[in-house]
Amino acid sequence: MNANFEKQVLISGNWKMNENHFEALRLVQELSALLHLPNGETVLSESVMVSIHPTFTSIRTVQTAIESDHVPVFLGAQNCHYIDKGAYTGEISPDMLAKLGVQYVITGHSERRQYFFETDEIVRKKVDAILRHGMHPILCVGESMEERNSGKAYNKVKEQLKAIFSARSVEETLRIVIAYEPIWAIGSGMTATSGDAEDMCAYIRKEIGELVGPEVTDGILIQYGGSANEQNAGDLLSQSNIDGLLVGGASLDAKKFVAICRSV
Ligand code: PGA
Repeated sequence: MNANFEKQVLISGNWKMNENHFEALRLVQELSALLHLPNGETVLSESVMVSIHPTFTSIRTVQTAIESDHVPVFLGAQNCHYIDKGAYTGEISPDMLAKLGVQYVITGHSERRQYFFETDEIVRKKVDAILRHGMHPILCVGESMEERNSGKAYNKVKEQLKAIFSARSVEETLRIVIAYEPIWAIGSGMTATSGDAEDMCAYIRKEIGELVGPEVTDGILIQYGGSANEQNAGDLLSQSNIDGLLVGGASLDAKKFVAICRSV
């Protein structure tokens, strides 16, 4: 808990391939109950924004629940294609997500890079497409354990940032959320220390400033992700370069997720 907290924070729940649409509805209803005070106001502090990222099959159900219950969260998605429509069997376009009221789309997640062979080039096309449709990409970057142990973590992240932010305008840059997610910390219960996470987030801020221009450094929003939970959230969020959290496992438990959102 940081009493001097003035910065805007974004807490995002990445539900991954969990919760069918019945379970997703229950989860959003639980969130609604926990996020509202009896007088209908939100329990969240003004500086906190929240997004939830269900699977594609649950997005419509969750959208309807958010709207009818006035749940104070933004609707998010976990992925999309970069083309608007056409013969791409099994894909979902950014246009379809925007029409559903989706505002934040995770892209470049290490699970997609690793299991679905998404390259920096593909991630850049997705970032462009998400921006074109008026939504915010949540761009994930981060190193493997091997890269960290061999002293290559900063270089890896630098290359990932270069692929997305070179020749990028100030206006577009400020609409992109960056999530620093060390791969070894995801789903492993091994959180980066708040000091290590802070150092990398500070580095990301500086690098983007160099790629785009110094005017973006104060405005960009940088999350940390990787085994974030209700116990470590306050410490992570009190770091000056960490402006939010991308939460996987703990976002499937409404009580834990709301505790994280309230730890600012
Ligand atoms: P985790 O996942 O919180 O379960 O480690 C984070 C993520 O992959 O975004």
